[in-house]
Amino acid sequence: MNSLAKKVLDTFKFSFEVEPLLVFSPGRVNLIGEHTDYNNGFVLPAAIDKAIVLAFAKNSTGLIRLQSVDMQPKYYSTKMSDNLSKSGIDWADYIIGVVDEMQKAGHDIQGFDCVFGGDVPIGAGLSSSAALEGGVAYGLTKLFNLNASRLELTKISQLAENNFVGVQCGIMDQFASIHGKEKSVMKLDCLTLEHEYYPFDWDDVCILLCDTKVRRTLAGSEYNVRRQQCEEGVKIIKKSHPHIKSLRDVTFEMLAEHKYKIDEVVYRRCMYVLNENKRVLDACSDLLASNLEDFGAKMYQSHYGLRDNYEVSCDELDYLVEATENLDGVLGSRMMGGGFGGCTINLVKTNEIENIKSAVGEYYKSKTGQLPGFHVVKIGEGTHELELNEVLQ
Ligand code: GLA
Repeated sequence: MNSLAKKVLDTFKFSFEVEPLLVFSPGRVNLIGEHTDYNNGFVLPAAIDKAIVLAFAKNSTGLIRLQSVDMQPKYYSTKMSDNLSKSGIDWADYIIGVVDEMQKAGHDIQGFDCVFGGDVPIGAGLSSSAALEGGVAYGLTKLFNLNASRLELTKISQLAENNFVGVQCGIMDQFASIHGKEKSVMKLDCLTLEHEYYPFDWDDVCILLCDTKVRRTLAGSEYNVRRQQCEEGVKIIKKSHPHIKSLRDVTFEMLAEHKYKIDEVVYRRCMYVLNENKRVLDACSDLLASNLEDFGAKMYQSHYGLRDNYEVSCDELDYLVEATENLDGVLGSRMMGGGFGGCTINLVKTNEIENIKSAVGEYYKSKTGQLPGFHVVKIGEGTHELELNEVLQ
């Protein structure tokens, strides 16, 4: 991470010739609780040690001047205004979108320079976009001395993605990246936004991500379809239970009572969400009891629900999970994030990791002709400022 931070710092100094403010903004994993956030349910994510590092300084040009150290095109600049428009460049829209939402929230932002780079794999389901958004929101707050809480920055980042980028994502990714705590997962109630940290730190167990290397081309549209299907289920149940606002308020009994009125696909989507919410709460009890066997079994159940009922998995993700099913040292495995590609998250015994990687690699290769990627990730702190002298050491 230090070499990345140093690269961003050096690039900034070369381009703009001043000392910047440096911000570390992590990607995230989600242990369990998938596609529940936009249904006002529960999730169990954590920030990781893979991140985007951003350097900021004010300028007096009235421009937003942006530079990426590892993406093309490298540069984008635009005039600061109350009416910012889309840049036509993927990465720049995440940044401009945050500026736009900060202005809408009444924060005074002037011209600034920003250089950024990261080691969060893009499109792998590790929320590189949320890391970029949260890093910009946090950096601008520091730079312009704004009065904004971490919660407000989370909401601004999500709105940027919803309104400017056009993905109707829930709040989990931005929340986890901004609120992460070292060695802890957070149980987030996406209805109240209350969150509680659970220690997640074992000497003999670690988190291994297996990467299908399939990037989520279909995810955008299918994601929005899942949201609509959940809303359709709610609409039907609401007719006889008017207080229902989301699937969070729906019980198993209510769903059963309405089964005959609900389209079969919509019913399966709703059933998955109800089960997954219950699994998150039960998995938290497993954590408190340090029962990682039961916790891991719920990760598998989560995957099977996402595969069979929510239908957001893909063959490649299923192969990666299948490969672990009878493997020594694997406690749990499931697809992670929006689906249709990206990574599986695996809870594995540290001393078995090399055997696991080679067995999973071999199985995946026999099915797809390709090797998967592997990343061992550690749970780390949420978005924070980096001290320049730390980086220069
Ligand atoms: C994406 C979205 C999140 C969440 C997950 C699925 O990562 O950005 O808000 O809905 O998918 O759990």
